[in-house]
Amino acid sequence: MKKKLLSLILAAAMVTTMLVGCGSKEADETASNSAPVADEVVEDDAAPAPAAEDEGDAAGGIQVGIVLPTKDEPRWLQDQAQFESILGDAGFTNQVLFSQGSSATEKTNVETLVSQGIDVLIICAQDGAAAAAAVEAAKAEGVTVIAYDRLITGTDAVDYYVTFDSFSVGVAQGQYLVDNAPAGSGIPLYLYAGAATDNNAFIFFEGAWSVLQPKIADGTFVIANSSEAVALQDKAELTRDEEAAIIGQITTDWDFNVAKSKAEAHLTAASADMKGDVVVLGPNDGTARSIADVFATDKDVSSYIVTGQDAEIASVQYVIDGKQSMTVFKDTRTLAADSVAMAVSILNGETPATDTTYNNEAKDVPAKQTNIVVVTKDNVKAALIDSGYYDASEFTGL
Ligand code: GAL
Repeated sequence: MKKKLLSLILAAAMVTTMLVGCGSKEADETASNSAPVADEVVEDDAAPAPAAEDEGDAAGGIQVGIVLPTKDEPRWLQDQAQFESILGDAGFTNQVLFSQGSSATEKTNVETLVSQGIDVLIICAQDGAAAAAAVEAAKAEGVTVIAYDRLITGTDAVDYYVTFDSFSVGVAQGQYLVDNAPAGSGIPLYLYAGAATDNNAFIFFEGAWSVLQPKIADGTFVIANSSEAVALQDKAELTRDEEAAIIGQITTDWDFNVAKSKAEAHLTAASADMKGDVVVLGPNDGTARSIADVFATDKDVSSYIVTGQDAEIASVQYVIDGKQSMTVFKDTRTLAADSVAMAVSILNGETPATDTTYNNEAKDVPAKQTNIVVVTKDNVKAALIDSGYYDASEFTGL
């Protein structure tokens, strides 16, 4: 037990150091860890803390369990790399499991981790409502639950939430379109959103709508691809149900292929006056690249501006090449480090530091929020290379 306390104090000190200086050491680790990992299950064998000395880890010595939504979106491999690096350095035994787009797999993953004696669960839900059952099962076994990046809704079994400022992501995307649209009015606006099962998709859309709606109402933009959005275009603030109606039409499900076929269908259906110079709300990088490719090949689209988020390597290259207009950099080093710092506090029996709350329809969840950075061709080097997040060798034409 004494040993455990000592290792926690050491871990806390290490995480604090990491938080203070998200510097070059981590940057090196990011670069070397950023390649996709083939295994479903990744365990950090190198970490100490033998099971026999830790009452909490009786069945297998895992202290912190992490569940991420899918390996098919590069975004989550970035998060995985950060967790393995930070938790390993901090001396925690940990395991990362992927749900591969299935809430059933997610629940099994949580059960597996609970059976291995985890004290803290860090989970990014595949489906924010469906994940309630999984975290309730963990909570019933005395596990502290941290929702990671995506809020889990409709349950009081979520203890903490670590997130980026998602409203600002949407505002940044919308504002980019407003600031960079061609002069004049009647500019076609194509709207796309994330998965309706992801609470973030609503927050992103709400942020974007807050700056786009006045420009739709004054005739600068004309919505090209959503009758629901057109029906609500005079409303500055939408209810959740109204947002759901719009998102139901323009969802990409966060899936490249869904985004591609929707964009193709929209351009096939569009009349000539909905082509020419257009602007596109692309919700994240993977879908933005698909949408950009479709718009780039339509001979009646003379120019397009498209937003994204996540600063995925492939999209950063698209930004450098002028194929995607911007991305929003969400520094996964900070989010992972914040979650680990929280886990350390919890394991030490302290109350983790939080700076805001998010209502999840059951309670106000104490949250730690991280700011975002808009990345365009102009600041790509400063934001992503000079900050040590990526290595220049990943890109051409920098
Ligand atoms: C969101 C997340 C975004 C993006 C998206 C796609 O929940 O906040 O950064 O990655 O999922 O999976």
